[in-house]
Amino acid sequence: MNGETLLEVDDLRVSFRTGQGVLPIVEGVSFVVKAGEILSVVGESGSGKSLTALAIMRLITDPNAVITGSVRFRGQDLLGLPEPAMRSLRGGAIAMIFQDPMTALTPAYTVGAQIVEQIMAHRNAGRMAARTRAIDLLGAMGIASPRDIAGRYPHQLSGGMRQRVMIAMALSCDPALLIADEPTTALDVTVQAQILELILRLRGEFGSSVLLITHDMGVVAKVADRVVVMYAGAIAEAGATRALFARPAHPYTIGLLGAIPRLRGPRLVRLPAIPGAPPAPHDRPSGCGFAPRCAAATGICAAHPPLITHDGHAVACFHARAA
Ligand SMILES: Nc1ncnc2c1ncn2[C@@H]1O[C@H](COP(=O)(O)OP(=O)(O)O)[C@@H](O)[C@H]1O
Ligand SMILES: [Mg+2]
Repeated sequence: MNGETLLEVDDLRVSFRTGQGVLPIVEGVSFVVKAGEILSVVGESGSGKSLTALAIMRLITDPNAVITGSVRFRGQDLLGLPEPAMRSLRGGAIAMIFQDPMTALTPAYTVGAQIVEQIMAHRNAGRMAARTRAIDLLGAMGIASPRDIAGRYPHQLSGGMRQRVMIAMALSCDPALLIADEPTTALDVTVQAQILELILRLRGEFGSSVLLITHDMGVVAKVADRVVVMYAGAIAEAGATRALFARPAHPYTIGLLGAIPRLRGPRLVRLPAIPGAPPAPHDRPSGCGFAPRCAAATGICAAHPPLITHDGHAVACFHARAA
């Protein structure tokens, strides 16, 4: 996994102008995704994961949004790119899949027609070739009767099937980078496992990089090479998945890992989650965002902890557990 850097996000900030002033949501997030790597961004709901992804894709449409920092894809600054160039990257070299497949699918066309359109828009392919490729992709997604499914409308498909169709559509142009925002959250456990399997195969067969957003450390453990833990708009901890699971240093990460369901005997046991809830954006403390929920917090946590990197493992905590 020592490939070239494909995506480089540096000090990304997303705020919204409101009647009460400017509300910061993503407060300076930096990470890289290397070629062929699966990087997971994990954190509870409201931590700014989706806005980070949408900012990278330039899909934040709110006119009150203020986005700063830099996003480089193959060295090219995406935040400064003219919209037509950005549009040709989207669904081409960078594809995104959403938690809700209906965001990406149009109800009025068959799913096959939508994949064909996507292929024809981004590749120099005729309709027949595009159609063959669409069917092949649906088959590669583990769909047993791809021709039949291609002829159906989104509402005629199950949630898991729609998710497969959306992944097929995202992969139809061989994206170098796939951004997947909670792609399995709405699905039952069996389908979830199949979709994760697909994402792994995708990396194996297409060599794509994946930025996988999730709130589930179990998902991270299954697929990610590296992980970025976000809390209240900032990075709490980041590093190689194996190192981070073996030696989590931030009290928040330790809490998240404690909440992974474990297989004990015949049943999954869900361990207690971290008490409390993340602060709403307008209630974020000025220092460490996690301090109000943290058993280790002291007076110093009223200051913002710097993100300190040691051996590729980054932690933002004054009371980080020593490695
Ligand atoms: N257009 C907006 N204006 C104001 N606040 C927003 C807007 N969009 C999202 N937010 C807020 O930003 C926070 C983080 O959102 P999000 O990135 O969706 O978090 P996550 O994906 O980690 O659950 C949420 O509290 C949400 O309410
Ligand atoms: Mg989200």
